[in-house]
Amino acid sequence: MQKPAEQRGIAEDLSISGLSRSFSAPNGTELKVLDDVSCDIAAGETVAVVGPSGSGKSTLLNCIGSLERPNSGSIRLGDTEVTSLEGAELAHFRALRVGFVFQDHHLLPQLTALENVLLPDLAVGGREQAAERARELLLGVGLGGRVDSFPHQLSGGERQRVALARALINAPGLLLCDEPTGNLDRQTGDDVVALLLDIAAGQPVTALMVTHNLRHAARFGRCLQLHDGKLRPVEFDERGEVLDGPPGEAGT
Ligand SMILES: Nc1ncnc2c1ncn2[C@@H]1O[C@H](COP(=O)(O)OP(=O)(O)O)[C@@H](O)[C@H]1O
Ligand SMILES: [Mg+2]
Repeated sequence: MQKPAEQRGIAEDLSISGLSRSFSAPNGTELKVLDDVSCDIAAGETVAVVGPSGSGKSTLLNCIGSLERPNSGSIRLGDTEVTSLEGAELAHFRALRVGFVFQDHHLLPQLTALENVLLPDLAVGGREQAAERARELLLGVGLGGRVDSFPHQLSGGERQRVALARALINAPGLLLCDEPTGNLDRQTGDDVVALLLDIAAGQPVTALMVTHNLRHAARFGRCLQLHDGKLRPVEFDERGEVLDGPPGEAGT
């Protein structure tokens, strides 16, 4: 099943309401990672999510991207209730409506950069002009000359650029990035975030990025902090200093 052409490449609204997710801790108690979380993100917004390690940032992103199911609550992307998707609709949603970038690039080592970018397209049957789009995306992330390179021939930053291009191959309305700069040095991480924000400004996509880096978070349209299972806004001044929100808890 393919998303109709006219729906592709459109940034999507995200509306989260009463979202809860808990896990059983080894000692038998219940660990409430997301506790009645609600938030609305408008189409085209760029949002950073910060919070201490273990506060549930990945759980939140995974629930939004349908990789994990919440215990209760609603996640709506556009007019789709993500939490009730199943079977072919779920596969379709994951392949076409949402793009993921993780801390680890997850590129397949035996495939070239171009082939890696094309993988999500193959998952939906392989479309005409996909190779052309993949080349354009690689050009857009500054790797026009590296399409035939294998992951081991690329630097960490270059591999994350390929991962970013791969996340965008099916023109998703939502881009979810979970600490994409976590393994990169400062300059390379700054460059990847600048690229991500450039991309988000230049094409119709709603972007959420988890980060520990408040300098990066301050560059996003909005910043939310996850703490004690709740999401709350973090405000920055024009120099990127935290105005409102507990900085010590936001990460480094
Ligand atoms: N599948 C799971 N089973 C049990 N506990 C989990 C599972 N996934 C995550 N957790 C726990 O939930 C909490 C939040 O995890 P996570 O979302 O990965 O946090 P973050 O990304 O903010 O570091 C952690 O305490 C983690 O150990
Ligand atoms: Mg995480």
